[in-house]
Amino acid sequence: MRRLRRSEPMRALVRETHLHPGALIAPLFICPGEGVRRAISSMPGVFNLSIDEAVKEAVDIAKLGIGGFLLFGLPEKKDEQATGAWDENGIVQQALRAMKRERALDSALLIADVCLCEYTSHGHCGIVRQTESGSHEIENDSSVALIAKTAASLARAGADIVAPSDMMDGRVLAIRAALDDAQLRDTPVLSYASKFASSFYGPFREAADSTPQFGDRRSYQMDGANRREALREIELDLTEGADMILMKPALPYLDIIREARDRFDVPLGAYQVSGEYSMLQAAFERGWLDRDRAMLESLLSIRRAGADFIVTYFAKQAAKLL
Ligand code: PBG
Repeated sequence: MRRLRRSEPMRALVRETHLHPGALIAPLFICPGEGVRRAISSMPGVFNLSIDEAVKEAVDIAKLGIGGFLLFGLPEKKDEQATGAWDENGIVQQALRAMKRERALDSALLIADVCLCEYTSHGHCGIVRQTESGSHEIENDSSVALIAKTAASLARAGADIVAPSDMMDGRVLAIRAALDDAQLRDTPVLSYASKFASSFYGPFREAADSTPQFGDRRSYQMDGANRREALREIELDLTEGADMILMKPALPYLDIIREARDRFDVPLGAYQVSGEYSMLQAAFERGWLDRDRAMLESLLSIRRAGADFIVTYFAKQAAKLL
């Protein structure tokens, strides 16, 4: 075996998996204001950016040839109906319009995350109903209606792709119908089909200010123990009309990515989530791991597991190296 490992050209010739900037998607967290570039303490190198700053940052990153951006919003105010999510003048809608005006961003896809959790006062991904016994329930169908409305509004504002991450049942079907009704037939749906209730989303909730004020997300996100259920989720979303699927988290769930790749012939992305980024960053800061090599190895492993593209907070750094 060692004959083919003797030099870099030889190793390059027989390499089975490749990383390229076009397969990387960079998340952006858009906040109100002007000239705002606020560091997120648990995610070194990631910022809340006002629209003007986000456009600058995106232009900078797009030059490196990455595939696109995934947009999240921090609204001015939150309420029970998540008004900021579907408002035609919501923060992400405004950001999309600004980014679409920027010619230097023509090469990158703008993907809008579709969820309510950043916009609800309680931080849940749907509409909350108080039950008679005093506990709380996340309503499915009323949430789906708002999620579909949100998706159509984001597509109208310029999103090239809409990506629902809420995990309500039936949302892909409702989103597809809402898009078609709004004459947005060409907008694809990238469904976070297999999204596990994960502790690795912790730092994101600081970044997006979306920590649930009570309870947790286990009544709608999947149990991390379930592989077969993940495949059923994907199958349902594809039946409902999803064009692509997104798996999440990535590193702790590589087996699920591989299984999905083998089973479904659709484009498949994986999201290397905030906690995966933060734990590597923490090790880099202490000098415990080699930054460049560990970063690229983590991304390569996700590609090797079968992901066509990767949403990652390392997108800019990795694209520079590649
Ligand atoms: C919104 C959403 C979350 C993430 C992506 N979309 C948070 C959550 O479900 O709590 C997490 C991404 C990350 O951790 O980087 N529902």
